[in-house]
Amino acid sequence: MNLGLTILKGRRSIRKYKDTDISDEIIHAALDAAHLAPTARNVQPWLFGVIKNSETLEKLGNTAPNGAFIKDAKLCFAIFGESDHTYYVEDCSAATMQIILALWSYGVGSCWVAGDKKDYAEDIRKMMNVPEKYTLVSLIPAGYPEEVTVPSKKDLKDLVFNETFTEN
Ligand SMILES: Cc1cc2nc3c(=O)[nH]c(=O)nc-3n(C[C@H](O)[C@H](O)[C@H](O)COP(=O)(O)O)c2cc1C
Repeated sequence: MNLGLTILKGRRSIRKYKDTDISDEIIHAALDAAHLAPTARNVQPWLFGVIKNSETLEKLGNTAPNGAFIKDAKLCFAIFGESDHTYYVEDCSAATMQIILALWSYGVGSCWVAGDKKDYAEDIRKMMNVPEKYTLVSLIPAGYPEEVTVPSKKDLKDLVFNETFTEN
């Protein structure tokens, strides 16, 4: 298997982190990968926040109950999209995956935490002083893995069809 696929296939959502710092080089590489993601008509309608302050991380974990583990992360990326662009969710989702995979390529774990469609999205935007035209699409807490869980995945053969779909 080539290196790229090894990274893609090995990725898991990581929710428990070691207390080991993530270097600025890795943070920059993740942000660099994010800003190179594809976007509809190449509008790049986004902002990428980086939060390292432990009190803010704790506040984020308390504000987003489904991301309570953010408080234990070394840092958290916050991806915001300009919501008057039709494809901002897709664009910011592409950037989110670029960050997650770039981090994983350095052995740093992370987890996509929902932002868009969540009631707390607006609270987090205000917390970070982000202009109103942006909406939180995702939070990405990150840290070196303390625990790796391996969720089951559907069988590929049950998901793929060739040319036209037929019921089994
Ligand atoms: C759009 C989206 C939203 C997600 N939101 C959350 C979340 O709020 N909290 C969480 O713990 N995991 C969240 N996840 C991670 C999923 O739970 C995880 O990807 C799934 O269980 C499969 O595990 P894996 O990533 O290890 O393959 C989200 C993933 C996606 C794609």
